[in-house]
Amino acid sequence: MSKIVVRGGNELKGEVNISTAKNSVLPIIAGCILSGGKCIIDDAPMLEDVFVISDVLRTICAGIDINRSSNRIIIDSSNIEECDPSSDLVKKMRASFLIMGPMISRFGKFKLSLPGGCNIGTRPIDLHLKGFSALGAEVNVGHGYVEAYAKKLIGSKIYLDFPSVGATENIMMAAVMAEGETIIENAAEEPEIEDLGRFLNSMGANVIGAGSDTVRIIGVKNLKGTRHKPICDRIEAGTFMIAAAITRSKIKINGINEEHLKPIIAKLTETGVKIKVNGDSMIVDGTGRLKPVDIKTMPYPGFPTDMQSQMTALLCTIQGTSIVTETIFENRFMHATEMKRMGANIKIDGRSAVIEGVDRLTGAEVRATDLRAGAALILCGLSAEGETQVTDIYHVDRGYVDIEKKLQGLGADIERVE
Ligand code: EPZ
Repeated sequence: MSKIVVRGGNELKGEVNISTAKNSVLPIIAGCILSGGKCIIDDAPMLEDVFVISDVLRTICAGIDINRSSNRIIIDSSNIEECDPSSDLVKKMRASFLIMGPMISRFGKFKLSLPGGCNIGTRPIDLHLKGFSALGAEVNVGHGYVEAYAKKLIGSKIYLDFPSVGATENIMMAAVMAEGETIIENAAEEPEIEDLGRFLNSMGANVIGAGSDTVRIIGVKNLKGTRHKPICDRIEAGTFMIAAAITRSKIKINGINEEHLKPIIAKLTETGVKIKVNGDSMIVDGTGRLKPVDIKTMPYPGFPTDMQSQMTALLCTIQGTSIVTETIFENRFMHATEMKRMGANIKIDGRSAVIEGVDRLTGAEVRATDLRAGAALILCGLSAEGETQVTDIYHVDRGYVDIEKKLQGLGADIERVE
């Protein structure tokens, strides 16, 4: 098992290039199933989660060619059969459930292992299944599996009780070849949904309003292969913005989309970080005195839950009281226990964390409990006095390409130890 060792205190300088978005490329890889032909994904992030969902597609006989040097993925879905993908792969990563919508759209029936929960919450799929049922599928759940069967999918109006990202994506993909029009109301508005809509339309679908709270899908007869480059990863960009802030440094971040970063830019500016955007690059200057702020995670365009643990790390180093409220997942403060081992002063009260900034965190051996918690602990290590060892780093590799190399490039004293 590898771990990341950080010796804190270095000022960061120079520039870093952001990869394309994990949470965009995963639904897009699943969506390739719909084409029945060849799709090419350019500039794909070479991440563990991308390899896992590719293996899931291989178990249903898709041809996948991943070229790690050119970051290109070629997916051939012409020979896909409707068979049961390996349940342990699906359990390994809940995003694999995103193949359900494409498979029932293309084959009219599919059986899949129920996705596991994970450390941050139970993560139910009731809204996904509500959407499939509304489109006329017969959905049965039992013995750890979910099975959907539909002679024909018929367009329908679906209201999501919660703007679930995955449910919006799965229902969009189930509806693209349904008969008639589907309207998803109270849909998730994340930029990755808009990117999926663009991808589906490039295959010949007719999706209108993806990225807004109402998505209309007018069914078409069939779809064809396409070529697509995913959007940049706003969460990776946000993580590096906080790397600059937590080390009180000034760095340049390339390959960003300002629109997608608005909630993060607004909140960091409130702390006193100076941010200057120029096209698809930004200068992040955390060298001044920073102020405590309150955070409340919300569906997009609110402050993203995937930035909550990284922001908590920063607030632990800012004098004064900050309050972080996590409204999306029921158990996303596990990083607090680990940060307290580094001297952080955090009190968890239900869905909120009350943070008293300390002069300096101290290095310690800590454990990554989930993808973003692991990234947040690395950020703490960049600022802490002494050496921090972050174990269970496989969590971080699910969502960050070469995080230690990118931080080394900025002057951090950090290495991966097998
Ligand atoms: C996506 O997960 C992201 N993953 C998550 O990123 C992200 O945290 C989350 O959206 C919220 O933005 C991918 O895109 C692969 P949800 P998803 O469905 O789709 C409840 C990361 O770190 N819910 O929007 O699973 C659910 O319990 C990961 O990159 C239902 O109640 O998130 C949760 O409280 C972590 N019923 C809330 O909605 C459902 O049927 C948000 O879940 C579905 C969800």
